[in-house]
Amino acid sequence: MKGPWTVASQAEFASSFGRTNYRFKYFDLVLESGGDPIDIIFNYKDLAHLKVVHNTFDIFYSHISEDVQSCVVMQKLFGLNFPLTHMALQLDENRMFFHDSFLNILLTSEVVAEPLPEHRVKVTTTYGIGAPRLLLPLAFPVLKWLLTRNFHVLMEGDAPMRDRRGDLRRWGMRLPRTTYPFQDTLDLRARHVFPSDTVALPEPATIALASVPSGSPLMFGRSDNYGVQIVRRDDAIEVYPRMCPHEGACLDQGAFKERSLSCCWHGRRFGPIFRIELPAQPTEFVGPFHRFIVSPAELRIVPIALNGSTVEADWTATITPRTTMYGERGA
Ligand code: FES
Ligand SMILES: [Fe+2]
Repeated sequence: MKGPWTVASQAEFASSFGRTNYRFKYFDLVLESGGDPIDIIFNYKDLAHLKVVHNTFDIFYSHISEDVQSCVVMQKLFGLNFPLTHMALQLDENRMFFHDSFLNILLTSEVVAEPLPEHRVKVTTTYGIGAPRLLLPLAFPVLKWLLTRNFHVLMEGDAPMRDRRGDLRRWGMRLPRTTYPFQDTLDLRARHVFPSDTVALPEPATIALASVPSGSPLMFGRSDNYGVQIVRRDDAIEVYPRMCPHEGACLDQGAFKERSLSCCWHGRRFGPIFRIELPAQPTEFVGPFHRFIVSPAELRIVPIALNGSTVEADWTATITPRTTMYGERGA
């Protein structure tokens, strides 16, 4: 055989065991969520979210490339650690295939994502349980129960990510990627979400500085490039973004720690966009998407419409007082 070869489907893989005493039984689990099929492929190829969103896994990789990754997953079961060898392959645009071996059991799954209207998607996961012929009738119901339970636990973390990507697409955010190589998903500095001129411009707002709480932040706008969260810290007011530019996570539930906010999908950290020392002095901060006008008692936020020079601008970048790098704009 010359060059790489990949199995075509779960069924082809199972049929290659025909010369052994292994047989397979199947069951399907179907889940509809927000997102496009590419968001499902991203979700299954996204290596960086495994430790942050599904923090129960301990993973030891042996290979990561564009469409293939293999590893050992240390799986906790009844309080004990069991190593599972795991292989993940992207078969085509909308289809993933996985196989795992555990003791004398083979687990396979094929995931097919089908688009629905309004940036929704139907995802069918077909599980195949392979075991020696005599063991299969006993192993199947137990493993079906375990896999179904595991699926629901995983989806508690994954379904909100998919829904969020569907929301971003409906709001008009641009998510231009059409492929997600496994290795690229580990690059947390990359940026894959961009604004567009169809994203709704929020109304300007004036916030009394005395009303800004020190615990949970006060929110402005929606969690897109215009949304900001405003929080009091010691003797200052800090302004943070509401959307992560990496893959678009909502930062509203991010954890504040040591003057930074961490993203709940992959853990990227953000400092404040700017800080107002109290008592506030009259000043102005101008970013790509906002003009922030500070008076001793108030913060006025005036959103700025997207234009040619801000189409690639980063709404999380730090801005300094009276910064006018995007030109003067009226209120
Ligand atoms: S979406 Fe990846 S770090 Fe925020
Ligand atoms: Fe996941």
